[in-house]
Amino acid sequence: MTYLMIKSLHMITGVVTISGFILRCYWMMTQSDKLQLKFIRIAPHIIDTLFLLSGIALVSMLHFNVFSESWLLAKFAGLVAYIVLGTFALKRGATPQIRIIAFVGALAVFAYVIGVALAKSPASWLKLLAG
Ligand code: HEM
Repeated sequence: MTYLMIKSLHMITGVVTISGFILRCYWMMTQSDKLQLKFIRIAPHIIDTLFLLSGIALVSMLHFNVFSESWLLAKFAGLVAYIVLGTFALKRGATPQIRIIAFVGALAVFAYVIGVALAKSPASWLKLLAG
C-alpha cells in the first residue's frame, strides 16, 4: 500500500516536473515575466526534491543496490543529464539556439528515462519496441 502510494507520488511529481519545465521554457522563449513570480521560482525545487526522494524511497523499499541494477544507474545518469540540460535551456544557454537544443535534449533524456523505468533496462524504448 505504502509502496503504491510512493510510486504514485513518483509518477505524479514526474508529470508535474516535465510539464512545469515545458511551461517555464515557453515563458522563457516568450520573455514572459511570469518566470519571476516567487511561486514559479520555488515550486520546481520542491517538486524535483519530492520526485528524487520518492525514487530513492522506492529503491530502498525494493532493497535494490543502485550500483548492481544497471537500469537504476541509467535512471540516475538520465536524471542528472535532464537537470543539467534543463539549466542550460532555462538559464545558462548563451544564445536562443543553445537553449532550444538543450530544451530538446532534456525532453529526449526524460523520454529515454521513462522507457528505462518501464523496460527496467538501460535499452529503454528499444527493449520495449523489440518486445
Ligand atoms: C527523469 C527521471 C525519472 C523518470 C522520468 C522516472 C519515471 C518513472 C516511471 C514512469 C516509473 C513507473 C514504472 C512502472 O510503471 O513500472 C518509475 C518507477 C520507479 N522509479 Fe523512477 N523515474 C525517474 C527517476 C528515478 C530515480 C532517480 C530513481 C532512483 C533514485 C527512480 C527509481 C524508481 C523506482 C525504484 C521505480 C519503481 C519500479 C517498480 O515498482 O517496479 N526513478 N519511474
